[in-house]
Amino acid sequence: MLKDSYLRTHDYLRVSITDKCNLRCRYCMPPEGVELLPHDQVLRNEEFIRIIGLFVSMGVVKVRFTGGEPLVRKGLVDILSGTARRFPGVELCLTTNGILLGGHIDDLRRIGVRKLNISLDTLSPETYRAITGKDGLDDVVANVDRALSTGDFDVKINAVLMRETLETLDGFLDFFKDRNAILRFIERMPFTEEDGFCSYLPADRLIAELGARGELVRNTTIDTNVAMMYEFRYRGRFPIRIGVIPAISKKFCSSCNRLRITSDGYFKTCLHSSQEYDLKGLMRSGAEDRVLHDFIVAALSEKKGEHDLDCRPEGGGCAALTNSRTMSKIGG
Ligand code: 5AD
Ligand code: SF4
Repeated sequence: MLKDSYLRTHDYLRVSITDKCNLRCRYCMPPEGVELLPHDQVLRNEEFIRIIGLFVSMGVVKVRFTGGEPLVRKGLVDILSGTARRFPGVELCLTTNGILLGGHIDDLRRIGVRKLNISLDTLSPETYRAITGKDGLDDVVANVDRALSTGDFDVKINAVLMRETLETLDGFLDFFKDRNAILRFIERMPFTEEDGFCSYLPADRLIAELGARGELVRNTTIDTNVAMMYEFRYRGRFPIRIGVIPAISKKFCSSCNRLRITSDGYFKTCLHSSQEYDLKGLMRSGAEDRVLHDFIVAALSEKKGEHDLDCRPEGGGCAALTNSRTMSKIGG
């Protein structure tokens, strides 16, 4: 079991398999994009599988593949199927922006990926373009429906809370009112300079907006580690499951069970800490599994009890920005 010094069990690994992305979401990276890693710095398929295996041997039971955008990496299917074959008990999950999802749905079903998180903030084509930099809404919408129509996936839609999200909330709810997906609204975390102005929108604003559109009932029995869950009866009729992730206004550090691997093979024990541990360097220097194992245990023992990011005005605003990597380089 991977326990830190606060006795938190870490059984969930998020693996960013590429820093490349086919979108430029404003909350994730600057409009000109970010400098990409040189090819040889990115882990190879078998390196990912070896690292995943190490963590599985230490108690990880759930692995989520992220990016950048994981579907732009050619080796994704090999990494996924290799992981599924070698570690059959592990729950496989994928976070994607949905643009390329259609062409991968059959592979994902065959391999046994059951949990899909699809990033989508709005159903307005103009707003989608303004947020992501691309006219991709039609593709994403078609792919959401393809994924849902198989009946094989738990689909969660991730929407980052912004002024634009609320302005187009009606269209968003109308679209999902008769679709079997959980809508999760995430408070915007400060990862780009635009965030320096403390522009995050608190979850309470969303709760008020939803409350004005239907009956919103909190259901703590289905809360996850990060999401406060609600049953929403939109316009009094349509049941929609809503999750709210108050990443800024409420810390969920005390129940954190997450570990992260970046695409260039660094181990991160906290999303908001700039502390990183060079697993790739150690691995490429020829270290045996036992050495990597001890390295991981030692790194985790340094994990802090909670992050010190505080975007509330009374907390000094987003000047508290701690991270040197953008979200696209960590994978959320
Ligand atoms: N704040 C909150 N969520 C973010 N995501 C990307 N950038 C941010 C941010 N600054 C979310 C996206 C995606 C997931 C990987 O992270 O919605 O679904
Ligand atoms: Fe790409 Fe996801 Fe970042 Fe958007 S949030 S730019 S889809 S990595």
